[in-house]
Amino acid sequence: MIKVALPKGRIADETLSIFQKIFNEEFKFRGRELILKKSGFTFLNVRNWDVATYVEYGAADIGVVGYDVITELNSDVLELLDMRLGVCKVCVGGVVGDESYKQKTELKVATKLENIAKEYFSKKGIPAEIIKLNGSIELAPLIGLSDVIVDIVETGTTMKENGLEIKENVLDYVSARLIANKNSFVAKKPQIIDLYEKIKELV
Ligand code: PRP
Repeated sequence: MIKVALPKGRIADETLSIFQKIFNEEFKFRGRELILKKSGFTFLNVRNWDVATYVEYGAADIGVVGYDVITELNSDVLELLDMRLGVCKVCVGGVVGDESYKQKTELKVATKLENIAKEYFSKKGIPAEIIKLNGSIELAPLIGLSDVIVDIVETGTTMKENGLEIKENVLDYVSARLIANKNSFVAKKPQIIDLYEKIKELV
């Protein structure tokens, strides 16, 4: 039995459709279902930010999670494969045409990616106060909560519709990754490798 943690939403659906192709069976969470047992697998329907935690602690053997999440959490897991799903970037964003943030003695940065933002500005030698938010990050520079944001950019629509633009790239390529718990990878190596090979052919 392999336990697989999947992030709720689009990536879960796309990952389940990969399993569907491999096993030629329907894989689908119904309604508010959180556990799905099928063909020797147990799928766990968890929040995006919790996937790496389930895998790190061994509650799930493998999982699919964004590279931004494993980087932010510094998760102690094995990264097996780039699933090429949910491709996006992490960027510094600010008000269109406003470059005044470059003159600040201490930059105020709103983000949900605290560690990524902290490391980015510290490597550049720029003093930054990181303001942690949990969503709607784009609002912060519009109402003066921060000078800039560090956030995920996928289509760029959210920034554009709010009068913001990309100022700098922090992570150029973020995508969903197949990860494994380190102990599970040893204990269940043949099953995990077999699955990895099958998924690899489809992504
Ligand atoms: C993410 C991110 C941006 C948006 C970027 O937010 O924080 O706000 O998507 O996507 P885009 O470039 O395609 O517009 P999410 O949808 O996760 O919602 P949130 O505001 O709750 O973080």
